Amino acid sequence: MIDGKIVSAHIGLKFGMSHIEGAMSYGAHIAAICDSDVKNLKFAGERYNIPEEKRFTDYHDFLDDKSIDIVTVAVPDQQHCRISCDFLRAGKNVLCEKPLALTREECEEIIKAERESGKKFMVGQICRFTPAFEKAKEIIDSGAIGEVYFAESEYAHDYMYLVDTWRADPLRHGVIGGGCHAVDLLRWLVGDPKEVFAYGMHKLLPSVSYDDATIAVMKFDENVAGKIFVSTGCKRDYTMRTLIYGTKGTIICDNTSPSMTLFTAGEDGLAHEPEIIDIQVNNHNAAREFEVFADAVINNKPVVTDAVEGAKTVEVCRAIVESSKTGKIIKPDYAF
Ligand SMILES: NC(=O)c1ccc[n+]([C@@H]2O[C@H](COP(=O)([O-])OP(=O)(O)OC[C@H]3O[C@@H](n4cnc5c(N)ncnc54)[C@H](O)[C@@H]3O)[C@@H](O)[C@H]2O)c1
Repeated sequence: MIDGKIVSAHIGLKFGMSHIEGAMSYGAHIAAICDSDVKNLKFAGERYNIPEEKRFTDYHDFLDDKSIDIVTVAVPDQQHCRISCDFLRAGKNVLCEKPLALTREECEEIIKAERESGKKFMVGQICRFTPAFEKAKEIIDSGAIGEVYFAESEYAHDYMYLVDTWRADPLRHGVIGGGCHAVDLLRWLVGDPKEVFAYGMHKLLPSVSYDDATIAVMKFDENVAGKIFVSTGCKRDYTMRTLIYGTKGTIICDNTSPSMTLFTAGEDGLAHEPEIIDIQVNNHNAAREFEVFADAVINNKPVVTDAVEGAKTVEVCRAIVESSKTGKIIKPDYAF
């Protein structure tokens, strides 16, 4: 802390610029920004008026800076584990982008570093801060739609222009890299699926080795099922269309619309006119995410999306990929 202000550092400055904005809107003191690409570093430095001496191309140059409380990590997924673990072991609290990591071994390594360091770790499952999804969670928890018996979500995002980047790495299957948003959302709203079964399709991005569309069904508790659809080559705008069916009502929402729809059954047991609820559109609510993490750091509160929670989401994604390859029902292993 400096003058009572939380001190932050930010690594990876493309999508990661949203974390600088989150930290600034919180009132953090920015101690360092870092990108290995000097063009991206310069762009972010100028955009946010960060002095030259706080701009770095190598994160090791401020790894041991004792003043830093929070480090945000927004580099390619393959590097989440190494950089997060380095900073946890250097005594920093870390907010790392999703997915936690791409392999079970890396997830376990981050969990170990989190436990051994005693520092806070948060994986940026941003859907938990998306206004429509926060509202859906509130409605479900209030009991207004009764007991959930089916929920579905999709991650439809055209990666056509990203096929020549780290996103095409076979380890970074679309279900893990992007589909983790939809999987994490269903885990948050409904619970941990006990079994998954999936089919993969491959028609849109022939130069990428993994399937560009996947459909997965999942069994939660007895009498509760779910569905995930992931398409990384779809010909439409980005969406996470989501439906939650309960015994007394139904929620229809997504992350990019200014309203959501709520059906609830009246005394006659029928759902008549739906309620249209206005929603502030903010599908990357980095300000709220940073605020929640800073609050956990300052007040020593538990982090909801800690490393184990991030690992469970990756585990379900990996189970979906395995099922789509083997044609078998897979039971995710949540023992972390
Ligand atoms: N929450 C979301 O909805 C969301 C959206 C987009 C991306 N992401 C995640 O954010 C992360 C970054 O994605 P992106 O779209 O910005 O990727 P990108 O490839 O566009 O940018 C990554 C940046 O990191 C820099 N970088 C790479 N290795 C580095 C290193 N060792 N040290 C410092 N800088 C390094 C690159 O130069 C580049 O500027 C990924 O984990 C991605 O999955 C999350």
